[in-house]
Amino acid sequence: MRRKMAAGNWKMNGSTAALSELTALGEAHSDPKCELLICPPATLITAARNTAAKQIAIGGQDCHEAPSGAHTGDISADMLVDAGASYVILGHSERREDHDEDDSDVRHKARAALDAGLKVVICLGESLEERESNNTLDIIGGQFAGSIPDQVTGENLVVAYEPIWAIGTGKVPTLDQIGEVHDFIRARLERRFGAGVGRSARILYGGSVKPDNAAAIFAVSNVDGALVGGASLIAADFSAIINALDKA
Ligand code: PGA
Repeated sequence: MRRKMAAGNWKMNGSTAALSELTALGEAHSDPKCELLICPPATLITAARNTAAKQIAIGGQDCHEAPSGAHTGDISADMLVDAGASYVILGHSERREDHDEDDSDVRHKARAALDAGLKVVICLGESLEERESNNTLDIIGGQFAGSIPDQVTGENLVVAYEPIWAIGTGKVPTLDQIGEVHDFIRARLERRFGAGVGRSARILYGGSVKPDNAAAIFAVSNVDGALVGGASLIAADFSAIINALDKA
């Protein structure tokens, strides 16, 4: 069976003082049923790895597609590994929007990350306009085909469904809408990669997951956990979400 996952994306938030949240998280969840992942800003990865209890994996929020070179300000997958990361989030809608990343950029980055030995959390999600014009599954299908490289396995691939309009807004799709997209992604995984990979890769939901809506979302079919932004910054909030997942 798939091990559930609670992943926190700190985005561009947090300085060394925020590491105390990681310590609190480790103490509250010394033996979690689900896998725990925190993706702090790159500046904190090494300190986070040194601070966090071993049951908390640490990840990056992006990487470059090249292993090294003249790319000022960028970070390679090998550098993330060297800093202490075991995962990287790729194709987050904020990267796609702020940095004009398209599916092929995300796929190349994912390939580089897998080559470096990282596991990848690849984000897919529709805009409000796409949702309202009934194009959600087409958009997700296109992003799925274009963003996920061929060489993934059931262990190193995590897909995150993150409707753009639900991120940081407090708006959440209906449970039926979440289930429809997760079932669709599961079917695409099985069709493209076969039953082995297709059934073992995890699919997370992301977008305004909070302590008060987590349990309902985790009861939806093919929801294997959550990618959490705002509520992952405070250990008590993230902890409540982890408890809901451990009970699901
Ligand atoms: P949010 O962010 O939980 O703050 O909505 C989710 C995400 O962007 O991963």
